Amino acid sequence: MTDVWILGGTGRSGRAIAAQLRAQGIRPVLVGRDAARLVAVAEGDRTVVAGSAEAMAAEIRRQRPAAVVNTVGPFTRTATPTIRACLDGGSDYLDLANDLSAVATTLALGDSVAASGRTVVTGAGFGVTATESVVVKLCEGRAAPEQVRVDMVPSLETQAGVLGEALAATILDGIPGVAGGGRFQGRRYRDGRLVAAPIGGDPVRLTLPDGGVVTTAGMPLGELIAAQRASGAPNVVAASSEAPSSPVVRAILPVATAVLGIRPVREFAIRRLAAVKVAAKPKPREHSWGHAVVRWPDGTTREGWLRLGEAQEWTGAVPAEVVRRLLAGEGKPGAFTPAALFGPSLAQACGAEYVV
Ligand SMILES: NC(=O)c1ccc[n+]([C@@H]2O[C@H](COP(=O)([O-])OP(=O)(O)OC[C@H]3O[C@@H](n4cnc5c(N)ncnc54)[C@H](OP(=O)(O)O)[C@@H]3O)[C@@H](O)[C@H]2O)c1
Repeated sequence: MTDVWILGGTGRSGRAIAAQLRAQGIRPVLVGRDAARLVAVAEGDRTVVAGSAEAMAAEIRRQRPAAVVNTVGPFTRTATPTIRACLDGGSDYLDLANDLSAVATTLALGDSVAASGRTVVTGAGFGVTATESVVVKLCEGRAAPEQVRVDMVPSLETQAGVLGEALAATILDGIPGVAGGGRFQGRRYRDGRLVAAPIGGDPVRLTLPDGGVVTTAGMPLGELIAAQRASGAPNVVAASSEAPSSPVVRAILPVATAVLGIRPVREFAIRRLAAVKVAAKPKPREHSWGHAVVRWPDGTTREGWLRLGEAQEWTGAVPAEVVRRLLAGEGKPGAFTPAALFGPSLAQACGAEYVV
């Protein structure tokens, strides 16, 4: 049982992860819903055809791979059934979830995962890993801080093609907060509680260590939960350079998100968005960055950066390194985000550098 399965092996992330695994001498098994599309990208590796997330779960139970990498979003729909199949089949699991709801739901499975003896890693993509790693690094050996802000600044090269169903559904279906919260609202932690906050709020102009300038604004994704757990801070804000920070967009956003809260409207919008053709575009800057500012109750403040290359390439490198460590028996029973499990050195092993 040494097989590593990549669910969504034909996708942008699936192909990037497969390439990084091959570079480490691990031949992945590509899993997807179309035999011809799988063979076209498999480079001779084994493929498994399964027409839906449910069919993939059934194959996991039947064939019991060592580790499963799930790249089929939205993870609010695919993570829990796939994790249950992994626990039944004795497989470790990791995914690229970066929305609050999916990350929170998976981490909440921690006790049942721990009882099974398996390791589950969620948020193993750029956003969660890059920001959480800086928080873990800044908080190492210190008491819980009072306040944390994390910012993600991805530099993404765009490949020509359609946006695709998984990404479109994740964008429009994945923004909602955790169970019980209003859908399509922003979130922040205040006094230890997850509370509503405007998407695009708290804009900050950041000067990057290489001299570039970006504006980041509130965009509560999985990194909000990861930063809170990594620091123990009661007050946490998560922001992104991809968040809408212009006053006009921020004014329109509440209306647009209220409309998208209506299920048939959202499903129509997902289909239209999935078919949108994107043109090839070079990455906008040389580096992607994770950034954190941490403040302790005595007023001490520490700031740190993580510098890395193109963000999608790194989203291939992190899962491959996590898989390598899991196959080497370095995992622990339970559900984790990547740096919570492997510490700040994980990011360095994936080619990133800290600037603290
Ligand atoms: N955490 C991060 O930083 C990060 C970074 C990058 C991506 N992501 C997330 O990862 C996910 C994948 O992104 P991507 O850019 O790789 O997307 P993509 O290129 O569209 O690939 C999606 C893959 O999922 C498969 N798929 C889509 N819908 C499916 C369904 N209903 N049943 C079975 N398979 C299905 C596709 O297979 P077909 O070939 O059959 O269509 C394809 O292989 C998204 O949710 C995205 O948000 C997260």
